[in-house]
Amino acid sequence: MISVFIFLAVDFFNQINMLYGTITEFCTEETCPVMSAGPKYEYHWADGQTVKKPIKCSAPKYIDYLMSWVQDQLDEESLFPSKIGVPFPKNFLAIAKTILKRLFRVYAHIYHQHFKEVVQLSEEAHLNTSFKHFIFFVQEFNLIEKRELAPLQELIDKLTSKDR
Ligand SMILES: *[C@@H]1O[C@H](CO)[C@@H](O)[C@H](O)[C@H]1NC(C)=O
Repeated sequence: MISVFIFLAVDFFNQINMLYGTITEFCTEETCPVMSAGPKYEYHWADGQTVKKPIKCSAPKYIDYLMSWVQDQLDEESLFPSKIGVPFPKNFLAIAKTILKRLFRVYAHIYHQHFKEVVQLSEEAHLNTSFKHFIFFVQEFNLIEKRELAPLQELIDKLTSKDR
């Protein structure tokens, strides 16, 4: 289970990096001065370690902090040991959940603020497939709290009702 988790987390991280990469020119300090997912949800960056007091910043800055933070976690040998036989830390699941919770926000931002551009770039099917896999995985193992998923709840209901 843990090695599957790591494989998937790295895969989702790469997919989100790529999807967000295609729309970075549309996600700027001017277009997205705050990190949001629709009018009701705004995110302020804090990682709980080096940044304890949440910073209100633009979406590109927030996503840059977020992706760098995830990358650092995935590269952290003590959290994600690459050698066989090295035990996983006790807080592994908690960190894994935080990684997924934060990655979800990038999907939420893209769907709410940049779906038009995603459609223009013909990346729509790609985005949907990626998010669908993400959400199936998260729901299967109950990895993100329901209130965190609220910004995309409608979409999640749509995606999970059709094929189940
Ligand atoms: C992607 O998802 C959106 C939101 O549910 C939907 O409107 C659109 O038709 C989907 N597109 C494809 C190609 O699956």
